[in-house]
Amino acid sequence: MDISRNPAMPAGNPQLADAAPMPQQPLTVHRKDYRPPAWLVPEVHLTFDLALTCTCVTALMTVRRNPQAAREECICLLGDGIVAETVMVDGGIATGWHMEGDDLILPLAQDDAQITILTRLDPAANTQLMGFYASQGMLCTQCEAQGFRRISFFPDRPDVLSTYTVRMEGSAAQFPVLLSNGNCVQSGALDNGRHFAVWHDPWPKPSYLFALVAGRLVANRDDFTTRSGRKVDLAIWVRPGDEAGTAHAMQSLKHAMAWDEQVFGREYDLDVFNIVAVSDFNMGAMENKGLNIFNTRYILAEPDTATDADYDAIEGVVGHEYFHNWSGNRVTCRDWFQLSLKEGFTVLRDQLFSAAMGSDAVKRIEDVRILRAAQFPEDSGPLAHPIRPDSYQEISNFYTATVYNKGAEVIRMMRTMAGEDAFRKGSDLYFARHDGEAATCEDFISAMEDGAGLDLAGFRRWYEQSGTPHVSMTMKHDSSTGAVTLTFVQRLSASGDDQVPRPMVMPMKIALFDRSDSAPGEFRAQEHLLILDARECRFRFDGFGEAPMVSANRGFSAPINLDIAHDESRLQFLAMHDDDPFCRYEALQQILTTEVLATAAQGADTQRRRAITDIFSFTLADDRIDDLMRGELMTLPPISVLIETAAPADPVALQTARIALQAAIGTACADQLSAVHTRTAQHRYSLDAGSRGARKVRNHALFLLAAADGDAAARLAQRQYENADNMTDRQGALVAIAGVQTSLRDTLLEDFAQRYRDNALVIDKWYAIQAGAHHPHVLDQVSKLAKRDDFSLRNPNRVRALYMAMAGNPTAFHEASGAGYEMLARLILALDPINPQTAARFVPSLGRWRRIEPARSALMRDALKRLAASSYLSRDVREQVDKSLG
Ligand code: PHE
Ligand code: ZN
Repeated sequence: MDISRNPAMPAGNPQLADAAPMPQQPLTVHRKDYRPPAWLVPEVHLTFDLALTCTCVTALMTVRRNPQAAREECICLLGDGIVAETVMVDGGIATGWHMEGDDLILPLAQDDAQITILTRLDPAANTQLMGFYASQGMLCTQCEAQGFRRISFFPDRPDVLSTYTVRMEGSAAQFPVLLSNGNCVQSGALDNGRHFAVWHDPWPKPSYLFALVAGRLVANRDDFTTRSGRKVDLAIWVRPGDEAGTAHAMQSLKHAMAWDEQVFGREYDLDVFNIVAVSDFNMGAMENKGLNIFNTRYILAEPDTATDADYDAIEGVVGHEYFHNWSGNRVTCRDWFQLSLKEGFTVLRDQLFSAAMGSDAVKRIEDVRILRAAQFPEDSGPLAHPIRPDSYQEISNFYTATVYNKGAEVIRMMRTMAGEDAFRKGSDLYFARHDGEAATCEDFISAMEDGAGLDLAGFRRWYEQSGTPHVSMTMKHDSSTGAVTLTFVQRLSASGDDQVPRPMVMPMKIALFDRSDSAPGEFRAQEHLLILDARECRFRFDGFGEAPMVSANRGFSAPINLDIAHDESRLQFLAMHDDDPFCRYEALQQILTTEVLATAAQGADTQRRRAITDIFSFTLADDRIDDLMRGELMTLPPISVLIETAAPADPVALQTARIALQAAIGTACADQLSAVHTRTAQHRYSLDAGSRGARKVRNHALFLLAAADGDAAARLAQRQYENADNMTDRQGALVAIAGVQTSLRDTLLEDFAQRYRDNALVIDKWYAIQAGAHHPHVLDQVSKLAKRDDFSLRNPNRVRALYMAMAGNPTAFHEASGAGYEMLARLILALDPINPQTAARFVPSLGRWRRIEPARSALMRDALKRLAASSYLSRDVREQVDKSLG
């Protein structure tokens, strides 16, 4: 997660990593084709004989005909790049089986059978990081969504639930720690320096939740007693030397366990909970039952190496994976089209958790910023899909901001409409009704209707329709009667099989500020919850002598684009006084967006600028808000939001205008900003809100000052860098200076590289800062960085650090010659045979061509066409490239 937050099963036999990969045939899977599985697998026994380059896996499966499904004469066991060395049925060698592509087809006349299959794997050669792979001498698995079939032949689909018993054996020196799901039921020494362990997981689960880890690891141990008195042993496993970095993750885990009991009534259900951190991982983390596996970046944190944002992300992701134990594991998904059932709900749960641990207001603003910056562009482009897609070629490509973040917004809307208490009744009913089952989004909605007492008939459209809804609002005020009328009109779009476009149903929170009856500086208004359920909805409010100021979509109650007839003074008022923190932030964002767009198109206008710098000045002095909130109000709209709003956009002109606006603010508010910088330097480092807030506004002050006067700010940044006792300060200083052309830049970058040369996560930051910098030679620098010895296409964190930062940096990616597009296309081609899942993640950046001005747009398409013409593309990359061009 992360969005800062994937599985794949491309071709290429892991044993034959050097052989030329075979082109893959795209095959589209449709939601409407779902059929229940013909065979169930109540029990699985796996035996692993572990070695880095040759691990032997024996799978013993008890299979039974599914009485609910049509009879089939064969069982189809899915595989991906694996070879069956032996196949046995009920203890005898089976001969009648054959392969169909990667899958093993075995005739079975009886209703029950014991099938044993032996496969041999080479984890060290598995560069896709799907299935069973080696990372820095340790062995681990990643099975979601379809990785289990790279380990053993199996009905690898989420509606086949089994209890697993896993026996591992291997060298005690090489693999001192042996972990799998559930509880360890047996372990001991064997001859020749070998040892073994047996783990049993009593909870039936789909194969995507299976996990195994073997390696030289050390644990931070703790425990948690659940509200019914079960003592749970907790352990976070890391490489020796990394223990000190696990304290915050452990705290976060204990908070998450307590919070889920209090807020959702969910208790943990095993005696042990293990987390393992690995450095080579395609995604953020994985919720395997009782054995979560994490990307190191979401576990390890110390003040000197992790920023406040990193600490927050760790808390959020640790919570997210833990919450999956109920929303995902106890109740799982019937098929992969239902992915948002577990992901949307779990993202909402982690958002609520983080809000409860920190600032509600700021968390909501951050979540909406992520939605706007990542999901809205996805929803307006060629890769748009509903939160419950109707078809896919490669499911890994659907771990998206839409399924995750918009999915969370949709469930949040149900909560807003129901209210917290009724929502809890709905979620209780959902868990009670479907515990132990593989459920659908429809099941969730029905449970919400029955448990929370909501009618969600029209609301279901959110699951079917892609695209961000557009709603426009107008206000009429009648001064003779004091009546105010608000009219909301939805722009309807048809989708899918639907001929007649239907409206979306959504909660709309609003407030009307009556300027005539507020005390100076104090503005409060009653909040109303309106439900928009038709193309046009009208609401009347009485008692307003003067036209009020409307604050609409408070808390971003609906994930839409809301147009309100343009009115500068309304926005300026809300940007300074709205008591809904999100709407205050939003009003300012709108003012700033309009200003950047106008400057990029027609140049700056002093009067508009003055209005903005006045608001900044007001904000810097406003003692009604804390520094965490002030920091939000000092943040300019992200470049991706500007591009999205301007379409067709000239990203470089927008970037230039954005920096010019920062410079104008930095100049006009220089004294106040310097004062903020000085005031906040006194704070001692801690993780409390005051101290974090101080660091946040200090960095924002520095960025604004640096845009205004690079040389002066460089000296300020250098001091901040040298005096820093934490990464937030040090990174903030480095980011500020990386955008300034000064010799100090190289000195500090070099110092940073030396200081942290042994910490891969910090070196990732160092790569990203340079690739993300607004600097004239940034593309050359990216090329140089890619040639360093510590850069490797086999480590997804490093690849993302360099190239995601490049793709998000207009100065680099949208360089006028098209060199940035070319660089990204070359990366995709080089990475695809190594790690197709991660390679596919870079395609959407090129897919944005429709929103970009014609000259660059044509160059972006050319890059996509060259990709499309390549003789080898994985299914992952092929799907994204075809759709992006289409
Ligand atoms: N299911 C994981 C999560 O959201 C994400 C993930 C998907 C991790 C696929 C690995 C592979 O928590
Ligand atoms: Zn998840």
